[in-house]
Amino acid sequence: MAQGQVQIFDTTLRDGEQVPGCKLDTHNKLIIAERLDELGVDILEAGFPISSPGDFDSVVKIAQLIKNARVCGLTRAVKKDIEVAAEALKDAKKSRIHTGIGTSDSHIIYKFNSTREKIIERAVSAVSYAKSFVEDIEFYAEDAGRTDNEYLARVCEAVIKAGATVLNIPDTTGYCLPEEYGAKIKYLKENVTGIDKATLSCHCHNDLGLATANSIAGIMNGARQIECTINGIGERAGNTSLEEVVMIMRQHPDLNLDTNINSKLLYSTSQLVSESMGMPVQPNKAVVGANAFAHSSGIHQDGVIKQRETYEIMDPHDVGVTQSAIVLTARSGRAALAYRAKNIGFELDKLQLDIVYKEFLKVADQQKEVNDDDIPKIIEACGL
Ligand code: KIV
Ligand code: ZN
Repeated sequence: MAQGQVQIFDTTLRDGEQVPGCKLDTHNKLIIAERLDELGVDILEAGFPISSPGDFDSVVKIAQLIKNARVCGLTRAVKKDIEVAAEALKDAKKSRIHTGIGTSDSHIIYKFNSTREKIIERAVSAVSYAKSFVEDIEFYAEDAGRTDNEYLARVCEAVIKAGATVLNIPDTTGYCLPEEYGAKIKYLKENVTGIDKATLSCHCHNDLGLATANSIAGIMNGARQIECTINGIGERAGNTSLEEVVMIMRQHPDLNLDTNINSKLLYSTSQLVSESMGMPVQPNKAVVGANAFAHSSGIHQDGVIKQRETYEIMDPHDVGVTQSAIVLTARSGRAALAYRAKNIGFELDKLQLDIVYKEFLKVADQQKEVNDDDIPKIIEACGL
């Protein structure tokens, strides 16, 4: 992996699918998995095989289908989970077992009624056992975001010794601030013996709307894998959004970071996931929302018509959107009206535009948006 290359670990079909009421059947999962492979994700988390016979079956079929990505299955630090995941992944061209355990004091005390030392023992034996099936082992320290850094470093060191190749540092509850999460990654980079043998991975939840910012902070501090989902779907407020982190790295060449994602497939993949799950994308969603390249105020429209970059930092074609939209509302100006009228064959001179614009404003005040069908009627009402 090149120094500035960031691995994209997609968990749309595992963490993403934990959205209440949005369960996917195996058929839809296979369609999405194939599309994610085409998109260029490096690792595809296909499911949690022990969780249900249906999930096991989906992981088996995805493992058999996928040509390029490494297929991954989630487990708890439990022998049976690991055996079932290994069985589900056995036909994959490249596979990974993702095992782990909670490391914050609240997980250790309340969830496991255990101690820090015993948790390290369980983590090590889970990694060693998984290693007897598969070479590539990712370890997650659940609730790492609220885990004391010094203890987290000890956990990481122990699992690297046991054979972990990737260390997932999840901000499971979406609590961290970007500076804090970045500092955690930096601390691990500087204080874990053997860290050069493993890749640090960011897995951030969006409870405070910081998942993307935290993942980028992690990458800027030495992590080289981001765990994310299409449209940022996932448990509660969701996970880091794949399209956001990919485009942040693409639009900031100064960061010297890139991914293997074919960004031109981002919009269609977003639509596919949204339709398959029956989960609409919010219109103002960054990168793939319906309004991400739509301009509706007069000042912005005038600027974009003169030079797209005035109000757009991304070319819509780069994410698979055919063109920017100039939306006609009562906030639009003459430039936008003239532009849209010209697009449908009405070239208006300055005098005509003044007349038509007055009529346009009356219509626009009555309806939310003025469409292409309304324009000829407005022009006709002006006697032109
Ligand atoms: O958020 C989390 O901690 C997880 C782990 C199971 C990786 O999803
Ligand atoms: Zn998660």
